[in-house]
Amino acid sequence: MKFDMAVVPKRMKDAEGFFRVVEGRHSVRKYEEYEIPDEDIRRMFEAARLAPSASNIQPWRFIVVREMETKKLLARPSPQTFIADANAIVVVLGEAKGYCCSPLTWSTRDPIIATEHLVLAATALGYGACWIAMYESRPEDWLAEVRETLKIPEGTHIICLVALGAPAGAPKFTPKKSVQEITFSEEYGNPLMR
Ligand SMILES: Cc1cc2nc3c(=O)[nH]c(=O)nc-3n(C[C@H](O)[C@H](O)[C@H](O)COP(=O)(O)O)c2cc1C
Repeated sequence: MKFDMAVVPKRMKDAEGFFRVVEGRHSVRKYEEYEIPDEDIRRMFEAARLAPSASNIQPWRFIVVREMETKKLLARPSPQTFIADANAIVVVLGEAKGYCCSPLTWSTRDPIIATEHLVLAATALGYGACWIAMYESRPEDWLAEVRETLKIPEGTHIICLVALGAPAGAPKFTPKKSVQEITFSEEYGNPLMR
C-alpha cells in the first residue's frame, strides 16, 4: 500500500527521542539525596494529565509526598526500605465517580495509564522512578492511617505509589520479551514478525 501523507500525519521530528526515553526507562530503587525542583515535578504532571481515560473522566489524582515522616509511613508495610529513601513518593489515587458503568474498573485502570506518562516524563527529565504496588493484603490499620494522614476523601482509592528520585548507581535493565514473542498476525500463534 502506498504511503499517503494526507492520511498519515507527518512523523514527529523528535520521534527517536520518544524511543530513547522508553528504552531508557527502568525501575530505579536507589537515589541520591536531592530535592526535585517544583518545575520538574510540574512537567511530570503535565505529561500525566494528558493521558487518555474512559469517557475522558480523568479520575486520577496525585499526592506528592516529600516529608520524611510521611514517606516512612508509606514505606512501612513493605520490606523494601528504598521506598522511604526516594526524593519524593507520588501517591496515585482514583476517583470512582462519573462513570456510567464499572466505576471501580475504570477508576483503577485510567490512573495507571496516567502514571506511566508520569514515569516516562520523569525518565525524560533524568529521574529514576519505581512503581510500588498496593497489595490487597496491606494492613487495614495502615491504610486507614495513610488515608487519614493524607486526607484522602471517601470514594477515592489508592491505586499505587511511585518512588521518584535522582538515580544513584548504574542502571539495571531487566530482560524483556521480544516483539516476536508478544505479537501475532490475525490469529493467536500466527507470527507477526518473521
Ligand atoms: C504495577 C506495578 C507494581 C510494581 N510494584 C513494585 C514494588 O512494589 N516494588 C518494586 O521494587 N518494584 C515494583 N514494580 C517494578 C517492577 O518490578 C519492574 O517494572 C519490573 O521488574 C520490570 O523492570 P523495569 O521496570 O526495570 O523494566 C512494579 C511495577 C508495576 C508495573
